[in-house]
Amino acid sequence: MDQNEKKESAAKKALELIGNSLNEESVLGIGTGSTTNLFIEKLLELEIKIKGVVCSSLASEDQFIGSSYDILSLNEVYGIDFYVDGADEFNDRLELIKGGGAALTREKILAHSSNNFFCIVDDSKKVEKLGKFPLPIEVIEIARSAISREILKMGGKPVFRQGIITDNGHQIIDVHNLNIEIPYDLEGFLNNIPGVVENGIFAKRKADKIILSTNDGIEILE
Ligand code: A5P
Repeated sequence: MDQNEKKESAAKKALELIGNSLNEESVLGIGTGSTTNLFIEKLLELEIKIKGVVCSSLASEDQFIGSSYDILSLNEVYGIDFYVDGADEFNDRLELIKGGGAALTREKILAHSSNNFFCIVDDSKKVEKLGKFPLPIEVIEIARSAISREILKMGGKPVFRQGIITDNGHQIIDVHNLNIEIPYDLEGFLNNIPGVVENGIFAKRKADKIILSTNDGIEILE
């Protein structure tokens, strides 16, 4: 199987797993990225009757325009029943790095607001220790250099993601070579630097299930 086929089979499995639990009151959280796009495609084909979708990016939201699904804001619902999203990396504790698609802040908000967070990935995303994938950090523009200096002191190499403005109007720094010993601690530490909007470590609210697609089929980690 190539990587796209693996992504597709993880997306299909996620829908199989949550399909029977959805009803007309269900709110579905939708992530961002190529794996999530395959999940969205399947959802659009099936036209399941739910209350609506809350999306983690304008790009994901656009795909529901004109569909049978109502696009809801997080402010008009009491929570999200299922949040489905991809990841850039995951470890065996179900902690993640996300934000390759620059949607990390809204993704983290939706993950925190969800009762169930299903992460759909292919096996290229599996790591023993988080941090091979450069850690995305969303920053307020005027603080970018100050934050980068803090990152350098920590031994990381910050690279400004040129030409990208997030849906929240901010910039992204991708941090290479960070030593992420305890993801939970680093997640909190980075968010305490003034000007950091959010970072891409998902350890405080990690995935509840990883739906992992491999050449041998699907594995569910929980
Ligand atoms: C978006 O900001 C990211 O968190 C994505 O979920 C992540 O980059 C995975 O994307 P792919 O499904 O395209 O690999």
